[in-house]
Amino acid sequence: MTDLRTTIGSLRLKNPTILASGIMDEDAGSMRRMIAGGAGAIVTKSIGIQPREGYANPTVIELESGLLNAMGLPNPGIEQYGQELIKLKKSTTPIIGSIYAANTDDFVTLALKMQRFGVHAIELNVSCPHAKHYGLEVGCDTDLLYNIVSSLKQRIHLPVFVKVSPNIINLVEIAQAAEKAKADAIVAINTVKGMKIDLETARPILANKIGGYSGKAIKPIGVRCVYDIAQHVDIPIIGVGGITTGEDAIEYFMAGASAVQIGSAVYYRGTDVFAQVCNEIESWMNKHGYKKITELIGAACR
Ligand SMILES: Cc1cc2nc3c(=O)[nH]c(=O)nc-3n(C[C@H](O)[C@H](O)[C@H](O)COP(=O)(O)O)c2cc1C
Repeated sequence: MTDLRTTIGSLRLKNPTILASGIMDEDAGSMRRMIAGGAGAIVTKSIGIQPREGYANPTVIELESGLLNAMGLPNPGIEQYGQELIKLKKSTTPIIGSIYAANTDDFVTLALKMQRFGVHAIELNVSCPHAKHYGLEVGCDTDLLYNIVSSLKQRIHLPVFVKVSPNIINLVEIAQAAEKAKADAIVAINTVKGMKIDLETARPILANKIGGYSGKAIKPIGVRCVYDIAQHVDIPIIGVGGITTGEDAIEYFMAGASAVQIGSAVYYRGTDVFAQVCNEIESWMNKHGYKKITELIGAACR
């Protein structure tokens, strides 16, 4: 029997596939569909204190090997989103509340509310590549990040994950600052900054001009980031970026990830992509004589 269970600190997952933030997680109904599709955990849409409309269309376009998006963090604000989370209070599949803010006080307020609405862990989105004030300004400032994470760890009892960006030069230092502040895991990576220009109009296609690239094309970037972080921190890492098949997930485990998140592949393979990826992981492990996911974690780092 293959054992697909994994743990991220105190969080126990029945399988290592997690829905990534921002894809099919805008309400309780869509999150239930992802659970039914086999996800071992769900990350919510990134939520802020106030409702936010997001950018004008077009916000998402399909490119050769992935998606380019600049949604602009559209969300109904924590109070209204909380009404969706309450509907999932009895979920045995862990729900991870993703939050974004520009300062420590707002992060604490959001995390306390997420905790009250019943989530099982908090993911800090400090890595959005196209949101002014809420993204990379926070995610590349080691002192600010240390302050946010340590304040949260003093005020809430849930595990805290930090989602990092591939678009910064101090990735390892940021992961180390998170670990020093007692974060429970690093999530790597958010989307890669990108752009698409329409040749006929000579204009960028996205209304925001610049967006974040996701899907198959970014897998080598995500694997490299996980590997780099794994060399320098001891807390668990959750790998994300381009995972579409079981073998993609296994590559991330070998680079040092204890679990993986799947986003764009929901668009390419449908809502039961989680069950499909788990089956593929299982048959690869059977073929290669592995019994537990834990035997694969960090195999390429040793
Ligand atoms: C349409 C779309 C919306 C996203 N929204 C968020 C978000 O709200 N918060 C966040 O942390 N990441 C967001 N992401 C990034 C994903 O969670 C993930 O990090 C990225 O897409 C790479 O994974 P993938 O290649 O499996 O899609 C979004 C990605 C897409 C494609």
